Amino acid sequence: MPNFSLEDRVFEEAAAAFPTPFHLYDEAGIRERARALNAAFAWCEDFQEYFAVKALPTPAILRILKEEGCGVDCSSETELALADACGFSGRDVMFSANAMPDEEFDHARAMGAYINLDDISHIDILAKHGGIPETVCCRYNPGGDFKIGNAIMGNPGESKYGFTYEQLREGLRRLKALGARRFGLHAFLSSNTVDNGYYPTLAKILFTCGRDLAEETGLTLAFINLSGGVGIPYLPDQDKTDIRQVGEGVRKAYEAIFPKGGVAIKTELGRWMTGPMGWLVTRATHHKDTYRHYIGVDACAVNLMRPAMYGAYHHITVCGKRDWACDHVYDVTGSLCENNDKFAINRALPRIDEGDLLVIHDTGAHGFSMGYNYNGRLRSAEILYTQEGGYRMIRRAETPRDYFATLDIDPAAPALGLTKEDAQ
Ligand SMILES: Cc1ncc(COP(=O)(O)O)c(C=O)c1O
Repeated sequence: MPNFSLEDRVFEEAAAAFPTPFHLYDEAGIRERARALNAAFAWCEDFQEYFAVKALPTPAILRILKEEGCGVDCSSETELALADACGFSGRDVMFSANAMPDEEFDHARAMGAYINLDDISHIDILAKHGGIPETVCCRYNPGGDFKIGNAIMGNPGESKYGFTYEQLREGLRRLKALGARRFGLHAFLSSNTVDNGYYPTLAKILFTCGRDLAEETGLTLAFINLSGGVGIPYLPDQDKTDIRQVGEGVRKAYEAIFPKGGVAIKTELGRWMTGPMGWLVTRATHHKDTYRHYIGVDACAVNLMRPAMYGAYHHITVCGKRDWACDHVYDVTGSLCENNDKFAINRALPRIDEGDLLVIHDTGAHGFSMGYNYNGRLRSAEILYTQEGGYRMIRRAETPRDYFATLDIDPAAPALGLTKEDAQ
């Protein structure tokens, strides 16, 4: 089920201190999850989580995860720069990009990051941009369907990522000829999977493939990168992943294939790490009754795109009304000129009055970070609920000035309260 760990009081206190809408993150909860993951993989002498920056690219969060021993997985030059500014460097950084500008390899190499190549053609690009490192990682795509038991969990054959097995063999031989000595192997075969068998099944594929490639190429297998994809229960009746059981499943596969150990394990979790530890807090501002009953709120899809983009379910509670009967059926909408700008459709909720504070659950990963500026709407602030019980703004809300910063027009629109000086 969704995460109900914070009392309404927390959201109400935050909303008294900061204007809505905002995302609120629970520092203690994020630390707990990082510790639970590290405990689940403590059997592996060389384990490290590289938090997927794209899930929640906010410095205060990255620093918390750094304190918990995590590295970062970056997918662009800007994310590399963000990681750099937060104090990550060297082997604490993984660079997993695809179809990227060539120069991004230069930056990643200058930071000493692990490079995770997405395609065989990237070998020549890396050779020219930063050079081939002693240890290099490659992304595997086994093709076909990805199954856990009989259930199809993903379709790698239709995915744009990774090398085929034959390309891995050829690519690794070429990397060896260019100076590489050790390699890592990475794959991401299924997204948001709460099945405890996901990582163990993926691990078995990667362990086998990595062992065989090491034999075939003469390179040393340095690490397996299980990437992200471990899911969270967005739905009320959904089970959650048991991370201890996941770690145990990976251990069994590891011991069967690497009885002498010696191969490190890395993960790049995003959603599992922070997803349940974030909430979008928004106020009901309008109601409208036509063929349906609508509640308009002051957040919209630019603040949380997943429902509009994927039809994703996010649980909603109304502060102070958690015990009320859910005897009203509403569409909860934002203000965009897009009919899919709905946080909930035909959702049974308690009666909502204008001014009520609504809490949209599980927004701590791929929430704020997928934001955009359609209709000139602006991204919200982010608030940290600190482990001491305080509230700290860790990103301010955008202002019209931010929106105009990339334009060469005079935005001195009195309606926005902007002056010519603002534009300079
Ligand atoms: C290369 C890579 N690693 C890690 C992640 C994080 O995935 P998740 O947040 O589902 O764990 C992603 C997500 O897109 C990814 O592309």
